[in-house]
Amino acid sequence: MKKLVFVTNNAHKLSEAKAILNNKVEICSLKEIGCFDEIEETGINLNENAEIKANYVYSLYNLDTFADDTGLEVEALNGAPGVYSARYAGEDGNSEKNIQKLLTELNGKENRKAQFRTVIALIENGEKHFFEGIVKGKIIDKRKGDGGFGYDSVFIPDGYDKTFAELEPEVKNSISHRAKAMQLLVNYFNQKQK
Ligand code: IMP
Repeated sequence: MKKLVFVTNNAHKLSEAKAILNNKVEICSLKEIGCFDEIEETGINLNENAEIKANYVYSLYNLDTFADDTGLEVEALNGAPGVYSARYAGEDGNSEKNIQKLLTELNGKENRKAQFRTVIALIENGEKHFFEGIVKGKIIDKRKGDGGFGYDSVFIPDGYDKTFAELEPEVKNSISHRAKAMQLLVNYFNQKQK
């Protein structure tokens, strides 16, 4: 099975990735390779940030590596918070504050359409590849559910009536932005084996 380092310090992302890639790609965490660095996300879009993170680890450890960067893109906010989703409420913000700011910005707005977009950068033998996954949905006006992380409690994917934080993890992991991008990563390796 293909073995890849996943560049993230986010335990939620790591467990989602392990569940999604189960039996398809073996994932190594940063901890497992002894990397405890904070990698600064200085890019101006998701591709750049994903590439910065993957490159950092590949160049230090010379191991095939992938990183993801995700943004919540809200139509009525012209695509914000987008690449700045993690720092929406400021550098010392957190998910609670980010959601609060989002709900305040959307207060009174009728258009609640939004999408999560994940970009994965893979660096394999020094070659770069990108994979993108999108899930469309809407932002509700108050938090619902205790599961998931980040903006999950205010996002309802199209075709469902529950937020990502209310849906079973297996459901989120079968339809999410991250699942779609990771499926393309798996397809890439499957294709190579043929
Ligand atoms: P990053 O990809 O770790 O930079 O994430 C950017 C922001 O989006 C952070 O605030 C995350 O909490 C949030 N985020 C990333 N993935 C998800 C998700 O699957 N659901 C909800 N929020 C997410």
